[in-house]
Amino acid sequence: MGNSYSPFVYPDTFSSFGKYLQKTFLNSWRNPIELTMDSFFCLSELTHSAIDDMVQHHANAYNFYLPEQAQTKTTTRQTIPLTEKECRIKTGYIALVTGGTGGIGTEICKRLYDDGHQVIATYIAQESEHAKTWQRDQAEEGYEFDIIECDVTDFDTCESMSKKITRKYQQVDILVNCAGITRDATLRKMEQENWHAVLDTNLDSVFNVTRNLINGMIKRGYGRIINISSVNGQKGQFGQTNYSTAKAGIIGFSKALALELAETGISVNTICPGYVGTSMVEAIPEDIKNSIIAKIPVGRLAKPAEIADAVAFLATENAGYITGSEISINGGLFTGIS
Ligand code: CAA
Repeated sequence: MGNSYSPFVYPDTFSSFGKYLQKTFLNSWRNPIELTMDSFFCLSELTHSAIDDMVQHHANAYNFYLPEQAQTKTTTRQTIPLTEKECRIKTGYIALVTGGTGGIGTEICKRLYDDGHQVIATYIAQESEHAKTWQRDQAEEGYEFDIIECDVTDFDTCESMSKKITRKYQQVDILVNCAGITRDATLRKMEQENWHAVLDTNLDSVFNVTRNLINGMIKRGYGRIINISSVNGQKGQFGQTNYSTAKAGIIGFSKALALELAETGISVNTICPGYVGTSMVEAIPEDIKNSIIAKIPVGRLAKPAEIADAVAFLATENAGYITGSEISINGGLFTGIS
């Protein structure tokens, strides 16, 4: 910090130390076992840096107010310039992302992790190998995600997932309901099993997971629930009576729950992506896909990161006044005015 002095300017280390201390204790309160030695070391380094700066700050004040008696003694300890970011060891909230290993889900996990949250992604038993490889690949990129097996179509399985997470992390603060599938067919050709598969995975799942996590959030008086719907739930789509129904249902569910939870510190919002460059959209027959892209005013598919950024924003503490909202990210494909 040098020898310049202003009584109103405090060294950055003071606030880093304060913030980190608060976060570390918050984490420790959630689950002391998960509090790693690393976070203590980080805290200790920040403490040393803050104390050094405090001593220097004091010496500078002395120089400023009593120059004739100035003490020139300064600290000799080499401070290690640790930033808060370098000390990001599980200091944020606990975030659960259903379908977190998918195209949009992966980007959401990354963005939430970048914001300092501990991220847990769900996967289904049939995709166990894929999920483990995904976890390893992400770790190589520096993303330490937890994964948990859960068939979100089954209420009891969601209940036991909630118990497992609660045992390990105490609770979930941020829930992103992102699990989803398509089974496109015109209604006259749609098999009953494909109706149920889409409704179970895309809509019932939102009830199953949210219902099992909501009481923890209510108890603590804080939560962020972000449900991933679709432009096709807003406007309907040829060949998607099942998917459009489920995605429209998510919007209604979110608005109703937002009202129920408005006074509890929990926000509930829906994001309605348009066509995003993921394997789900790649699966649409080429000619149909091209005709869809031709109708998007922005002229291209969305990037998964463009959806993830909005999720990350809704997950912040400052976004608490946004609740019951339906946020469209569709390149102008549907504005609600026809
Ligand atoms: N509007 C009007 N008519 C259409 C049409 C459209 N969009 N698409 C097809 N048709 C017509 C065809 O021209 C054909 O007409 P004729 O019978 O007169 O020749 C008829 O409908 C074909 O009907 P079929 O029941 O035989 O349909 P199909 O079996 O050929 O295929 C489909 C239907 C599978 C739904 C196919 O159209 C398709 O894949 N559509 C894309 C659906 C889509 O957009 N899915 C989005 C997936 S990504 C996603 O969902 C993510 C997100 O959130 C955005």
